[in-house]
Amino acid sequence: MNLENKIVLVTGGASGIGFGTVQYLLEQGNYEIVSFSRGEKNIALAKEKLGENANKVLFLQGDVSKEEDCIKLYEEIDKKYGRLDGLVNSAGIIKLGGLEEQTLEEWNNSINVNLTSIFLLTKTLLPLLKNGTNASVVNISSMSSERAGGSIAYCTAKAGLDMLTKFMGQELGKYNIRVNSVNPAAVYTNIYVASGDYTQEGYDKWSESKPPLYPLGRIGDAKKDIAPTIEFLLSDKSLWTTGAKYLVDGGKSI
Ligand SMILES: NC(=O)c1ccc[n+]([C@@H]2O[C@H](COP(=O)([O-])OP(=O)(O)OC[C@H]3O[C@@H](n4cnc5c(N)ncnc54)[C@H](OP(=O)(O)O)[C@@H]3O)[C@@H](O)[C@H]2O)c1
Repeated sequence: MNLENKIVLVTGGASGIGFGTVQYLLEQGNYEIVSFSRGEKNIALAKEKLGENANKVLFLQGDVSKEEDCIKLYEEIDKKYGRLDGLVNSAGIIKLGGLEEQTLEEWNNSINVNLTSIFLLTKTLLPLLKNGTNASVVNISSMSSERAGGSIAYCTAKAGLDMLTKFMGQELGKYNIRVNSVNPAAVYTNIYVASGDYTQEGYDKWSESKPPLYPLGRIGDAKKDIAPTIEFLLSDKSLWTTGAKYLVDGGKSI
């Protein structure tokens, strides 16, 4: 372990925005990365895409919404590093539907994974963040935290996450731990295919129809468009920024 490097945990690091972040952080050269996600399939794909760099990332498996898995993750990071300088809470899910369509089970699942798990994991890892240097938490929220549409539980969870970000930012300032959020509009990832709301073909068509709605003429790319803002918030370039919300949305919300 190089003491100069920042130790960063990325949840959902095997796919989408989390994986784009892992790729981008690897390119910076001063990060040691732990990824935490659910399934074997995306981990195998991520390793394949990283090639030789795959052995620079510690891929761990578990469920962010389960307390026992969060404690196990704490123990593994504590044993290996004894500290954490960055936490990117990117693990998330969506299931489309409004009040009339969404079931209670879908609602509970969405609130648990997209909101409660961030309270749970950040709380569990707090002793490691306190041991870190200029530690920074970056929550991946969404433009949907302010705009109703798509999924009632998802929008509600993301609105709650924005307040969680502010509350934790205010509370943890005394430990020099910053907490901020990045709120993207549509980014091309696996989230809708993973939920079963779209087939891959249907999602590709949906993505192709979106660019006219964006002042910058395209939807987002995880590594190119979202990861640099996440890295800025993890880095010592943002030491006086906390409780803030970074809309990174191609201008969609203007
Ligand atoms: N894509 C967008 O348009 C968009 C826009 C705004 C915000 N976001 C937010 O960005 C974040 C990442 O989403 P994405 O689009 O990158 O989705 P994605 O490609 O589906 O990746 C999500 C990752 O989170 C992991 N995950 C999901 N539930 C988990 C759980 N309970 N425990 C542990 N890991 C879990 C998944 O594990 P597996 O690998 O096992 O599936 C996957 O690695 C989410 O918070 C999402 O709300 C996305």
